[in-house]
Amino acid sequence: MDTQAIILAAGRGTRMQSERPKVLHEVLGRPMIDYSVRAALGAGASRAVVIVGYGRDVVRDWLEDQPYADRLEFALQEEQLGTGHAVWCADDYLDASSPDETLILSGDVPLMDDETLRDFAQSSEASGAPLSVMTANLDDPDTYGRVVRDKKGGGVQRIVEYTDATEKQRQITEINAGFYAASTSFLTEALPELCEGEPDTAQGEHYLTDLVDMAARQGGATGWQLDDPRLIKGVNTRADLAEATALARERTNHRWMEEGVTFIDPSSTHVGPDVELARDVVLHPGVQLQGETRIGEGTVVENGTVIRDSTIAGDVHVKAHCYVRRAEVEARTQLGPFAHLRPGADIGRDCKVGNFVEVKKSRLEDGVKAGHLTYLGDAHLGERTNVGAGTITCNYDGEEKHQTHVGEGAFIGSNTSLVAPIDVEDGAYIGAGSTVTDDVPSEALAVGRGRQRTIEEWASDEASENDDA
Ligand code: UD1
Ligand code: CA
Repeated sequence: MDTQAIILAAGRGTRMQSERPKVLHEVLGRPMIDYSVRAALGAGASRAVVIVGYGRDVVRDWLEDQPYADRLEFALQEEQLGTGHAVWCADDYLDASSPDETLILSGDVPLMDDETLRDFAQSSEASGAPLSVMTANLDDPDTYGRVVRDKKGGGVQRIVEYTDATEKQRQITEINAGFYAASTSFLTEALPELCEGEPDTAQGEHYLTDLVDMAARQGGATGWQLDDPRLIKGVNTRADLAEATALARERTNHRWMEEGVTFIDPSSTHVGPDVELARDVVLHPGVQLQGETRIGEGTVVENGTVIRDSTIAGDVHVKAHCYVRRAEVEARTQLGPFAHLRPGADIGRDCKVGNFVEVKKSRLEDGVKAGHLTYLGDAHLGERTNVGAGTITCNYDGEEKHQTHVGEGAFIGSNTSLVAPIDVEDGAYIGAGSTVTDDVPSEALAVGRGRQRTIEEWASDEASENDDA
């Protein structure tokens, strides 16, 4: 099969009531346009031409950062004159050297999967019809375009937009899903005619759906009916977005349950499309796993934790309300509750990173314990070192960041400030409350704080009278 895809993404999405272009609104942490592009490329399209218009720069910038960017082309639709006009804006990609078949889809229908789209494209090509339309039967056909079949052969005669439909046509429950497969030569011929003159449609737009009419006159349009109408949920409003998110979440979570993951409450747990989970992972309510996150076997993630672009090994216990981004955590470590791992946090095995501990760009070797109220930034801590409550690495001097190095088996007393750059060697001790500015040799004890002064009977009358402070 030699196929290209055209993806419609120029509309503002007025009904979203948003500054942001509709196709950049997210479903499970990925913009909707990403789902459409991946489905098209996954279904076998050699390239995808994205029609941009409203918010063209942000849409384009986002797409150009993706790994598939070299398979994308962009075409501009200056004015949003309708879905038919939008496809015509890709005319540079509809010449004789184009692939024979062109798949057309919208950037606001995020639940379609590769296999279904591939089946559709292949069956359309096999049918030899100039145009195939994907359809579905809906209990509530809402404002989707209605599919009018011809009485004899069952082919699709035309599609009537909801706004243009008669009361009787609105009774039709078979709807246009918004996915088309067309022979490229048919498009080249039909689009200029479609976009000629002023459109006489209720919305004053050139409808792509009017291609069906034209194909019907040239041998017919095929209607390819889909069994699972959830795949074609289109997003026009925020309520649709929530519904699409719920469907995507259900599908993803169900798939992971089949692979041996426990969800205490699947309806409140969001797992992004690029997340990988091992068996016996347990996810509590309100957990969000986003981006390229990997979680190993037997790891438990408790309520309200957010993990993005991170790798968590097996048998890790992530307690409630942790926030983890671009970090790595090795086996059997305990995190949280309320731990914050920032980019470059690299935590070894059997560590403990407890409540209100923040780690950034730091390696904690196996068995390090930082249980409470601590900031570790630009640091390296050797095996089994114990970090007391309230310890802070002072890594920033106002201009530059500096490194803190702590050796193996060291003991940092509570409420210590480690003023970097600094080196605390293996087995060293630091007394509680110290501000440490000089390196501490192996096995030494460093204490850097004002000595305690105790004034006896300070509160008694005599002592108060003598007070000259
Ligand atoms: C469209 C179909 C409708 C179908 C429904 C399925 C038309 C006329 N109607 O309606 O039959 O049931 O999808 O979801 O095609 N766009 C542009 N440029 C434009 C207009 C739209 O790029 O000038 C893009 C939008 O960004 C969007 C897509 O085309 O991604 C669909 O447009 P939208 O306005 O959402 O069409 P629907 O009313 O949903
Ligand atoms: Ca739509």
